[in-house]
Amino acid sequence: MSMTTVAALTGAVFLTFTPIYEEDEVPYYTLPDPLVTEAGEPVDSPEMWREVRRPETFALFEEHVYGEWLPDPEYMRFDVVDDEPEALDGKATRRQVVIHFTEEDERPSIELLLYLPNDVEGPVPMFLHLSFWGNQAIHEDPEIRLSERWMRGHGEGVEDNRATEASRGASPQPVEAILERGYGLASFYYGDVALDDADRYREDALSLFQDIDEERGPTDAGAIGAWAWGLSRALDYLETDEDADHERTAVIGHSRLGKTALWAGAGDERFAITISNNSGCGGAALSRRRFGERVSRINDSFPHWFCHNFREYNEREDALPVDQHQLVALMAPRAVYVASATEDEWADPRGEFLAAYHAGPVYELFGESPLPVDEMPEPTQPAHGTVGYHIRDGGHSLAPEDWEQYLDFADTYFGR
Ligand code: GCU
Repeated sequence: MSMTTVAALTGAVFLTFTPIYEEDEVPYYTLPDPLVTEAGEPVDSPEMWREVRRPETFALFEEHVYGEWLPDPEYMRFDVVDDEPEALDGKATRRQVVIHFTEEDERPSIELLLYLPNDVEGPVPMFLHLSFWGNQAIHEDPEIRLSERWMRGHGEGVEDNRATEASRGASPQPVEAILERGYGLASFYYGDVALDDADRYREDALSLFQDIDEERGPTDAGAIGAWAWGLSRALDYLETDEDADHERTAVIGHSRLGKTALWAGAGDERFAITISNNSGCGGAALSRRRFGERVSRINDSFPHWFCHNFREYNEREDALPVDQHQLVALMAPRAVYVASATEDEWADPRGEFLAAYHAGPVYELFGESPLPVDEMPEPTQPAHGTVGYHIRDGGHSLAPEDWEQYLDFADTYFGR
């Protein structure tokens, strides 16, 4: 890939950065062993993982990568503002819920959109999806409330970017296909929780926990930590909705939101399945490979995503006390899915595969099936154990073909 293409993907030109795109340029590296404690002891039982190695691994990710997991909010209220039993030609019940964090209904608040299949006896298993744009961008349903929040490329008070219009930011999700398979979908805009802007990301959720007039401390959460916290709050709502099965909920995100889904699944063990689509650097891709985007580059381009300590590893990936296979392993023994796309080299598909693969020993400790392959599979050959992986032909996106795999994987895991 040329420098120009890299610039097109990220919207910025960094002339000094030349990504590695050849496998033989990947430097030699050794990965930390997920099953050896910081004190050098082997982890040989699920109890030792749960009591010692898991907490210390999670703490290392907090301290060095994503920042401290944010506490539960002091106040929370769910306002159901729309409940339509005959949505989508009678196929679904549409519910729109505002999650408030202050009695005064000020920001932050999350506008959660739900579609539940009408012809399935509930409570139904759910996909909880985090979205790049307002809820209106995922389906053409004209009754979806238009988000007026700031959006990248749109500014404040967004124009109508419903999924019908071929307008900027529409990002339709296969809602009908999900419903037909007997699943519900819940989705919200990540900017409800933290705006994806280095100058404004602390205005919302983070302002509940941080003094936003002061600089962030080295281990304070950034935007990814805030978005993950928002996913937990949406799950709090699902726990109260009798039609949704919060114990069978898969959290799913694409790209930066795939990084977020992984951090949410690690921090909140109520998620039964965690799905990261094309999550790349700081997501499923191994940092030590330095292939495509790397730590220094992501910290430069997106200084608000990770904790400040992560910058200590710019050009020093080998010094990281963890690598991303250990993030995948934090889901164990629950199900986890990593997916790549052949043309998405910026995200290092092979590095994503290897992280899923090297999480395997932790799954085996629990008697759960790791990835059932040793080599990266072909694009038409998904590999599904309790750890799942596929690589799809094409570019960086969350495509209907990806969803088909996730639905199959969820069917198997939930025994449907
Ligand atoms: C950029 C960024 C990636 C990120 C992606 C996205 O390409 O460098 O790390 O995953 O945006 O979120 O779309």
